[in-house]
Amino acid sequence: MKDYRLHPQERKMNIYSPPPGAQATDFESGLYYSGKAQDMNGLEEGVQFLPVMNAKKLEKRGPKRWVVVVAVISACLLVSLLVGFLVWHFKYRNASIQRLYNGHLRLTGTRFIDAFENSNSPEFAALSSKVKEMLIDIYKNDKNVGPFHKETEITGFSEGIIAYYWSEFSVPGYKANNLDKAMANIGAVNQAVTQKSRNPELRVESVVAFPSDPEAIKASRDNSCRYALHAKAGEVTRFTTPGFPNSPYPSNANCLWVLRADADSIISLTFTTFDVEPCNAGNDFVKVYDSLSPGEPHELVKLCGSYDPSYNLTFVSSKNVMLVMLSTDAVGRHPGFKAEFFQMPKLKICGGVLRGTSGVFTTPYYPGHYPAVMNCTWRIEVPKEKNVKVRFNDFYLVEPGVTVDRCTKDYVEINKEKYCGWREKFVVKSSMNTITVNFHSDRSHVDTGFSAEFLSFDSTDPCPGRFTCSTGRCIEKKLHCDGWFDCPDGSDERNCTCTEKQFRCNNGWCKPKFWLCDGVNDCGDNSDELQCLCPETQFKCNNGKCIPGVQKCNGKDDCGDGSDERKCNNTAKTVHCQQYTYKCRNGLCVSKTNPECDGTADCSDNSDEDNCNCGRRFLSKKSRIVGGLNSEVGEWPWQVSLHVSSRGHTCGASLISEKWLVSAGHCFQDENPIRYSDAKIWTAYMGLHDQSDRSNKNVQQRGIKQIIRHPSFNDFTFDYDLAVLELDSPVTLTNYIQPICLPDITHEFPAGKYLWVTGWGATQEAGTGATILQKAEIRMINQTMCNSLLTNAMSERMMCVGILTGGIDACQGDSGGPLASIEDNDRMFLAGVVSWGDGCARRNKPGVYTRVSQLRDWIKQKTGV
Ligand code: ARG
Repeated sequence: MKDYRLHPQERKMNIYSPPPGAQATDFESGLYYSGKAQDMNGLEEGVQFLPVMNAKKLEKRGPKRWVVVVAVISACLLVSLLVGFLVWHFKYRNASIQRLYNGHLRLTGTRFIDAFENSNSPEFAALSSKVKEMLIDIYKNDKNVGPFHKETEITGFSEGIIAYYWSEFSVPGYKANNLDKAMANIGAVNQAVTQKSRNPELRVESVVAFPSDPEAIKASRDNSCRYALHAKAGEVTRFTTPGFPNSPYPSNANCLWVLRADADSIISLTFTTFDVEPCNAGNDFVKVYDSLSPGEPHELVKLCGSYDPSYNLTFVSSKNVMLVMLSTDAVGRHPGFKAEFFQMPKLKICGGVLRGTSGVFTTPYYPGHYPAVMNCTWRIEVPKEKNVKVRFNDFYLVEPGVTVDRCTKDYVEINKEKYCGWREKFVVKSSMNTITVNFHSDRSHVDTGFSAEFLSFDSTDPCPGRFTCSTGRCIEKKLHCDGWFDCPDGSDERNCTCTEKQFRCNNGWCKPKFWLCDGVNDCGDNSDELQCLCPETQFKCNNGKCIPGVQKCNGKDDCGDGSDERKCNNTAKTVHCQQYTYKCRNGLCVSKTNPECDGTADCSDNSDEDNCNCGRRFLSKKSRIVGGLNSEVGEWPWQVSLHVSSRGHTCGASLISEKWLVSAGHCFQDENPIRYSDAKIWTAYMGLHDQSDRSNKNVQQRGIKQIIRHPSFNDFTFDYDLAVLELDSPVTLTNYIQPICLPDITHEFPAGKYLWVTGWGATQEAGTGATILQKAEIRMINQTMCNSLLTNAMSERMMCVGILTGGIDACQGDSGGPLASIEDNDRMFLAGVVSWGDGCARRNKPGVYTRVSQLRDWIKQKTGV
C-alpha cells in the first residue's frame, strides 16, 4: 500500500522539478536529454557539442551559427521539459489508485428487528439502501472524499443499531493522503452534516472508517462462501471449513462466518481442530474479529499453521457479534478447522475486592483468551499488620508490534508500572497491606492473559528461611552467592565475596573458576575470556592454540582442529578437502560451517540440501514456554519410547527416517534374565506424549526388525554408545511423527551452545520415570574441561552437556533419547544420544552424550539414511 502511494510521487519529483544536486544530475543524464542530444547530432550535420564549449572555434564559425545552436538546444530542452510534464501529468499525476475502507455506523431512530440479520430480507434491503444514501451524503460533504467515491455496500446490522459497511474509492495518487486523512476523521464530517430530511426519523449518530485489506473486501463480496449463524440459547453451534474433514478447504477462497448472539449476550468461540497451511509456507490464514467489519482495529487474532487440540483456542467477544474469516491462496490446501460457539451473559463486573491472607485471580475466561475492550481492577487487602505481594504464575499479554517497555496496548498496571508481553513468573510487592491491580485490553489482538495469586507476608521477613530477591521472589539460601543467577534480576549474586573456587569478573560477579578460558562469555563482559586471548596479531583456535593471524583462512589446518579454516566467510567456497571441510556428493568440498539443510545450496551439485525432510516441527506452540518441564504435544516429533515387553518404557530413541531409529548401544546389552539384544522383546512408540495414553490416535506402534549395535561399543567405558534399529514396517509421517536431521561429521556444536534433551526418564536421581515427555535446556561444555570434571573418562565419541550448577540433566530412562540442536531456520539436528552420567543433575557432573556427528558415516552405512 505504502509503495503504491509513494511511487508516482517520487517519479514526479524526478522528472518535473529536479531539485539541486543528485536529482539534477539524474535529470541531465536522463533519457530525455540524451535522446534529444543524439537526435540533434543527427539532424544538424557537422555540429558537435564539444565546439560549443570551445570559444575559439565558435568565434570562427560566426555569431549566426552560434545563435542557431543555442536556440536549437533551448528548444530541445523546452520540448523535453514539456513532454516530461505532460507524461507526468497524464500518466502519474492522474493515475488513480484504489482505496478500500470498512467500518460501521451507529444509527438512531429505528429498532433492531430479526429480519435485519438476513441480508436477503426486504427489511434489510430497505434499511441498507437508506443507510447507504446517508453515508454517501456524508462523503459528499467532504471535498476530499465525495468526488472519489465509487462503491459502498452495507454488509450487515447488529443490535445497537450498528450498520457495517465497506466503501471503495478511486483517487489520483497525489490526493490519496488527503482521502486517508478525511476518512480517519469521517466521524467529524458526519457531525457537521445537517442531516437532510431525506430520512427524518433515521440518524447517523457516529461513524468510523478504517483502511481495509483487499482480502477482507473480497471476502465480503464473495457470496459463495458466506455463513450466518445465530447462537441458540443453551446450545453449542458447530461449524467447519468447507469439506472438513473429508477434503481440504478450497484454494483462493475468502470465507466468512457471521456469528451472532442475542442482544446483551456475548459469544465464546473455540476452534476444536485447527490445521491450515503453516504460517511460513504460504498465505492461508484465519482471522477472528470482534465486529462484523473485518478491519484490523477489531482483529482479535490471526491464526495459521496447526494446533494440537490441547492448545487453548477460545476467544470471547465484547458484544453480541463476531466474524471469522478464512483466506486461502492458490497452493497448500489443508484440512481446515472445526469450531463451536455459544452465547453467554455479558460479564457485568470484572475485578473486585479481594480480602484474606492469600487468594487467586485471573483475567476473564482464563485460560481462554480475554475479550477485547476490558478494564478490570482488583483491590487486594491483607490483614493490617502484613504486607502484600502478587505473584504472576502465567502471563501472556502479547500483541504484534508492541514492545514490552512501552506497553501501548494491552497491559497490567500496578503502582503506576505497566507490564505486558510474555513474562516468566514474577512477583510485585507492596510496602503496605493493600495493592491495586489494573488490567486493560484494547480493541484488537487478545491473548490468554494471566493467572496470579496474592500472598500476605511479614515486612521484616518476606521470605522466612529463604533469600529474598530484589524482585520479591524467594529462593533457597544456598543459591545466594553461588555464582549463578537464580533471581530474575541477578540480585542473589550482587555484593558477594568470591570463594576460592571462584574468580571475580570485571563487572563484579563471582563465577566458578573452571569457566575461565572456555571460549564462552560467562561474565557477560567477557572478562573470563580476556586473559586467555592471543596477542592481537594472532588468531585463537578453538583448542586454545594461538596462530599468526595470516594463517587464518589460508586453506591449511594450522590449528590442528580446523577452526582457523571455518567461518572464513559465510558463502561456501570450494576448497581442498580436509578433515573439517564438508564433502559434497560429487567429491568437492566446501568451507562453510554446517552447510547441511541450511536453506542455501552450497555444493555445486546441491547435495547439501538433499534429504532435508527432517528436523521440522509442524505444530504451532506457545514458543515462549521455559519453566515447567512438560513438553507440548508434537514439540519433539522424533522422540521414540522403547518398551520392553516385561517392564515397559526402558529407553528413548530418535526417528531418523520412516524405518530407522537411532538409540544408545548400552540399551541393548543383555542383563540376566532379560535378553535386551533380542529385537523381539522391544516395541517402539512414535508420536507418544503421555505414557499412560499409548492408544492415543497420534501414536504409531511398531515392532523392531533388527538391532545393530556399534561393533566398537565398549560396555565398560561406554565408548561408541550407539545403535540403529530397524522398524518392522515404516511409520507414516504426521504432525506428531517426524524424523530429526543427522549432523555431518564436520558439523560444529560449539561450547556454550544451548541444546534440548528430552525423555520419560527419572525426574530425579533414583527417582521414577515421568509420564509426560519432559524437556530440558542444557549447554554444550568444552571437552577439555569436561574431561577434567569427569576424571578423564571422555573419548572423542562423547561430549558433555549440562548445567554445572546441577539441577538440570537427563537421567535413568532417558538413555538412547535425543539431544537436539536448533539450527538455522528452526531445523533440528541430532547432536547427541543420552549415554551416561555420574548420578543425575549433580553439581559439576554434566551428562555424557554420544557424539552423533562422529558416527555419522557408520549410521549411513548401516541404514542408508
Ligand atoms: N544410562 C542412563 C539410562 O540408561 C542415562 C543416564 C544419563 N545420565 C545423566 N546424568 N545424564 O537411561
